[in-house]
Amino acid sequence: MCGIVAYVGPKPAYPILIKGLHRLEYRGYDSAGLCLLNGELKVWKCKGKVSELEKYIEGENLEGTIGMAHTRWATHGEPNQINAHPHYSQSKHLSIIHNGIIENYLVLRKELQQRGYTFTSDTDTEVLIHLIEDIQQNEHVAVEEAVRIALTQVIGAYAIVVLSQDHPDKIIAARKGSPMVIGIGVDEFFVASDATPIIEYTNNVVFMNDEEIAIIERHQELKMRTIRNQERTPYIQRLEMSLTAIEKSGFPHFMLKEIFEQPHSIEDSMRGRLHLDQDTVTLGGIRDYLPKILNAERIIITACGTSWHAGLVGEYIIEDLARIPVEVEYSSEFRYRNPVISEKDVIIAISQSGETADTLAAIELAKSKGATVLGICNVVGSSIARATHAGVYTHAGPEIGVASTKAFTAQVVVLTLIGLLLAEKKGTVPESHLHKLRLELGLIPSKVEKILERANKIKDIATIYKDRTNALYLGRGYNFPVALEGALKLKEISYIHAEGYPAAEMKHGPIALIDKYMPVVFIAHKRGIYEKVITNIEEVRARKGNIIAIITEGDESVKKLADHYIEIPDTEEMLIPLLATIPLQLLSYYVAVMRGCNVDQPRNLAKSVTVE
Ligand code: G6P
Repeated sequence: MCGIVAYVGPKPAYPILIKGLHRLEYRGYDSAGLCLLNGELKVWKCKGKVSELEKYIEGENLEGTIGMAHTRWATHGEPNQINAHPHYSQSKHLSIIHNGIIENYLVLRKELQQRGYTFTSDTDTEVLIHLIEDIQQNEHVAVEEAVRIALTQVIGAYAIVVLSQDHPDKIIAARKGSPMVIGIGVDEFFVASDATPIIEYTNNVVFMNDEEIAIIERHQELKMRTIRNQERTPYIQRLEMSLTAIEKSGFPHFMLKEIFEQPHSIEDSMRGRLHLDQDTVTLGGIRDYLPKILNAERIIITACGTSWHAGLVGEYIIEDLARIPVEVEYSSEFRYRNPVISEKDVIIAISQSGETADTLAAIELAKSKGATVLGICNVVGSSIARATHAGVYTHAGPEIGVASTKAFTAQVVVLTLIGLLLAEKKGTVPESHLHKLRLELGLIPSKVEKILERANKIKDIATIYKDRTNALYLGRGYNFPVALEGALKLKEISYIHAEGYPAAEMKHGPIALIDKYMPVVFIAHKRGIYEKVITNIEEVRARKGNIIAIITEGDESVKKLADHYIEIPDTEEMLIPLLATIPLQLLSYYVAVMRGCNVDQPRNLAKSVTVE
């Protein structure tokens, strides 16, 4: 949450910063701000999106080759101009941008007020910059040392950048719990919450670790220390990410681009892992931990949001194939509820961003109890990827639309590969069945392609239902998580209230909601508990609900029962979520666009939830 970008080098900073903010806007968009250091520290900030900031500063003198910028997702203090970042210190000689939460800010604020500091905002961030100035003035230390000492007094999570008028060539950056990447160009440096504002200029990056401070100075080598004052040698990595991967490439929204990328992203998530020629699966990232996983008494999957839904599909797959008991936990609950965890447990943490605060905390808890922790992450080098013992990257490519689409299908592919690998090693499933599953998995990208060709039909259905205020999504077995994911997609981007339910549970509550105004989306694929789902459809019909059914190609009987149907190709039962999710993503996309919603940046949401 919150996007940070900073630059020092020979070029004008403003164009780099504003472009960087646009790339980071998916992280939060309540307000935006900018600071340029050109003789003095000049700050501009306003409520609203980055485009508002651009309008706000039109005509200003924006010269300067060092600066920083921020796009905010409010935690402390309402989203207004005063609470927007950057924040000045009292003397206005220092300025800060921050992503995270300073938990002990009230105590620090009180102490600083008693020492004569005046606060202009309601944020926790302002406390930190006053504290840094206070230390600098009282202890007569350099700004980086004042930052370091201040951070030893702070409880919470942060990624910060500090600029000082007295050090016109220096950027100080630090992180704990919130991500930060440094880009190293030719005689220039970039700092950002993720690599997207950087890769246009350089592929050489350093992912900062927790409790590290970077001292970034013009014409100097990058220096790093810990907040305990130990020197650190920066580990420079080469990042393979193309610019087209983070641009809309002709699509009106990132979400639509990412939905349409799925034939490729699904292919990428299996590449080098699903070997159809040798009829096997390999997962290099978890190879060393395979004996441990095969002997696990239990697997606990932990995640949030869409990743949690992928985890539910994973539970069904792994139990079905490998016969290992699996539990799926919301990270936010798991971390606080004193769960029973032992060394014999294997935890799988799933996260697109690899930065979700609750999932990170769940991982730390599991590690402290001696469990083996594996990660399924999309963002290479992310905090979760580094905090886990081993893992498998989803390789879906950057996902920028706030509503997760291609990351979900890639997560399900990876979980399927894990299930297939474990079953192969354990001998829990006849080889002939595993062979069929591998073959079918290999066919999924072309089947997704086929569904995407039907986008116009889905658009027509969206036109009919766009003004409804509620929707129900029902599915059974493997399609229950699909129902949850379909409902989540609709509510998060179109603000229509939607609920996903196991179809049979409808009778225990949701059936009371059904009348002629209620659209009910059924995932009614021929495989699985088909007849029972038909009964559920009849029950909705009898109460005049409007039925939109996701059906197997050519299934004439459901066609007759449904008001509208969307056909998807046949496949093995456990692979249906990879297909059935696609039309639901498109349905919610078109409904949201028709309602005039900001699809890529839905209100109140953020792509990377780095606060709990
Ligand atoms: C936010 C995003 C969701 C995502 C969830 C978990 O709520 O808007 O799209 O599913 O966080 O994020 P993660 O990065 O851990 O998968």
